Amino acid sequence: MFNIVPQPNEMIITGGKARFTLDEDTTITKAAFVDEFRNFVQKQFDIRIHRDSEATENTIRLELTDEPDNDEGYRLVSRDGCVYIYARAENGLFYGLQTLKQLLLQGNGVIPDLYIDDKPRFAYRGFMLDSGRYFQPVKEIKRMIDLMALHKLNRFHWHLTEDQGWRVQIDKYPLLTEKGSRRSHTNFGLKPESGFYTKEDIRDVVDYCHRRFIQVIPEFDVPGHCVAAIACYPELSCFSRELKVATHWGVKHDILCAGKESTYRFVFDVLDELFDLFPDGYMHLGGDEAVKMRWKHCPHCQAMIRKEGLKDEEELQQYFMSRVAAYVKAHGYTPIMWNYDGVDNVDHLDRDIVWQMCGANEKNGIVRHELEAGRKMINASAYPYYLDFPYGWVDLKRAYNFEPGISENILGVEAPLWTEYVPDRKKADYQIFPRLGAIAETAWSAAEDCSYDRFEEGLPEYFDLLNAYHVHYATLKQALPGKLRGTAQALWFSRRVLHWHGLHNLIDDARVEAAHKNDGK
Ligand code: ACM
Ligand code: ZN
Repeated sequence: MFNIVPQPNEMIITGGKARFTLDEDTTITKAAFVDEFRNFVQKQFDIRIHRDSEATENTIRLELTDEPDNDEGYRLVSRDGCVYIYARAENGLFYGLQTLKQLLLQGNGVIPDLYIDDKPRFAYRGFMLDSGRYFQPVKEIKRMIDLMALHKLNRFHWHLTEDQGWRVQIDKYPLLTEKGSRRSHTNFGLKPESGFYTKEDIRDVVDYCHRRFIQVIPEFDVPGHCVAAIACYPELSCFSRELKVATHWGVKHDILCAGKESTYRFVFDVLDELFDLFPDGYMHLGGDEAVKMRWKHCPHCQAMIRKEGLKDEEELQQYFMSRVAAYVKAHGYTPIMWNYDGVDNVDHLDRDIVWQMCGANEKNGIVRHELEAGRKMINASAYPYYLDFPYGWVDLKRAYNFEPGISENILGVEAPLWTEYVPDRKKADYQIFPRLGAIAETAWSAAEDCSYDRFEEGLPEYFDLLNAYHVHYATLKQALPGKLRGTAQALWFSRRVLHWHGLHNLIDDARVEAAHKNDGK
């Protein structure tokens, strides 16, 4: 009868004559975080619930208790015309209210006697938004945060720096936003694209998240994906190249120079301001797709390799990431980076850096080796967690049926939305939902309770919930395209691979190599 996403650990409908009925007299225990729930009820039912901590009838009673044994867990009991939510911490009470929203919608304001006992499988349940390729206004970010909370997700990974745009105000380097937040045009049109978050915006978003028990993880992606920064401060690159903020996607060959001390100073200065804005104790350092074309020829990079006794440019990146990670740790933060793929070893990489698995997952020998050696990881395997992939590549069923828990050292799950192909909210909604519901369920619900067939059967209720938030989700038919449509989508999306090491890069590489062939020797 009731279909809650993510599926609770235990739900027993005991029935009986007494039922909880939402009406004008319903009250709720006073607590700062209940307003989010009250606003939902006001919008959906046009009923204003009053706050009253003493009420004993027709009330939603929130109580902190010693059980359950998890800060995010809760018990929800509908009995004698009241709803009781018990939890050890406010997070749990808040999640109880998220479940209650779904019960109220499905029961049209009436809930029979029932009992729910619930807690998450993984402590880390994340969503990543790429604000670099396209800028999203704060209002849209907040709406996404609301949807995250509804799905009991608790980590917002905010990708804030990219080749195509620098999005966070940094006082010490004003050009980063004055110039680095604007690209002259996008892949798809001749219109300029721009935007950035002031420090006030960032504090507003972080506070909004905290009121929904979501921690915020900023990403400052180094040493790759820094063309926007290099466009402002060319000396950050090898050969101090004069570049424009990137217009098109694809892996860029100009990255931060890992040989100059001035690069490290820049990175530490930016981090200093990020520490001040983001208090939640994680710092994502990117580390992905750093091609070493320039480093091979750069005298500064080659000198650093010799000075540090490193074997090659791959080890130089490990030295670079570890040195930046040491700075992050010294400030009490946990460093995170995308997993290091396609190398023989990571002997020079600090093992305290949490890896966000994105490419090769459990088949990758290095990932397995590092998990066994104790490195912590977040499972964000591109297949199936990259929400920008078309449904023809990763359909709803595949997203649901993936098993993320390949080791004790997996902290949890994260679903990233890269936005090369996602210029607006409508497209974002279509890519994200209903896949995020499926992923949230595998992150929250016990593995033995997960069943794709049940999830699919419950989609009508889930779509009603998304309708309440005006989400432009993909329908079941769109989320499970047939083979033919799937293949067509995959081909269309693969166009981006043509740009991956595209012609621009090759011509540019040849030019740089001709000019600097002997510089590093
Ligand atoms: C990534 O897919 N660039 C981490
Ligand atoms: Zn260099």
